[in-house]
Amino acid sequence: MSIQDTIRERVAKDYAKVVSASSSGPCCGGEVEQKGVAAKLGGYTADELKSLPADAVVNSFGCGNPVAFSGVKEGDVVVDLGSGAGIDILLAAKKVGPTGRVIGIDMTDEMIERANENIKAAGLTNVEVRKGLIEEMPVESGTVDWVISNCVINLSPEKDRVFAEIARVLKPGGKMAVSDIVVQNLPEWARNDPRLYSGCIAGAVSEEEYVEGLNKAGLREVEVIDRVVYNVDQIATFVESEMPADEAGSDCTCGCGSADEDLAQDIGEDMAGSVWSAFFMATKPAEAG
Ligand SMILES: C[S@@+](CC[C@H](N)C(=O)[O-])C[C@H]1O[C@@H](n2cnc3c(N)ncnc32)[C@H](O)[C@@H]1O
Repeated sequence: MSIQDTIRERVAKDYAKVVSASSSGPCCGGEVEQKGVAAKLGGYTADELKSLPADAVVNSFGCGNPVAFSGVKEGDVVVDLGSGAGIDILLAAKKVGPTGRVIGIDMTDEMIERANENIKAAGLTNVEVRKGLIEEMPVESGTVDWVISNCVINLSPEKDRVFAEIARVLKPGGKMAVSDIVVQNLPEWARNDPRLYSGCIAGAVSEEEYVEGLNKAGLREVEVIDRVVYNVDQIATFVESEMPADEAGSDCTCGCGSADEDLAQDIGEDMAGSVWSAFFMATKPAEAG
């Protein structure tokens, strides 16, 4: 198995565990809240969250609200990279309406299963999830109006392949709206800490590298339209909540304290101002070859 496949296998295992964990265990006091800490800062409105099955909200692990800052409209074809339990595909499906179509892509069976349950609960018929890799999308070339993604590309060990695939599946003139974690001057120890990979930190690149990768793939009008910069506590809680439970030495996977609180706090202090969520937009040129 290649090193890239080994990384993906570990990420899939970690997200299977996180989505399978109950959100109402002893450490969460039975309250329904998003397990993904960054998702709480992601910019979903109360009305959007209320309109969705509770499970899709609880199991959201994003770091933005890509549908909201995209221009997705009625009739569009939308692809969501790493659709997880489905929060953004459900929001997109409502936007595109019955004449549009939404396709989620995810590699983790447990996430796909959860997304399918949430699609059913929402009563939507214009949305599906396909099992596959975002480095090798199960989507026809030149068929997509909008590629969206929420806190996923940082997890890919082959980001250039993902960027090339975005360019391939978009129609000429099609667009991308992606929120993702980026880092600046990540300390070497953090880069090499496997516990921080599934936690969306160790695999993240800088904003400049992201923009360069998208341009290299042939996308244009690449810009960062907004940022959410995390403070010490937010990074600490974020790391703690997305860190695999067995690594943290605790059963708590819902961002409410674990045995690795000290590590998380250290990371928070080290990384404040150097980790943020960036909202990227890009366009496939109409004349793209
Ligand atoms: C941080 S979660 C985000 C899920 C969702 N976008 C959300 O906002 O809740 C990452 C998701 O991406 C999926 N994923 C990570 N790397 C992937 C890859 N290379 N190919 C396909 N799916 C991937 C994981 O299985 C997981 O469901």
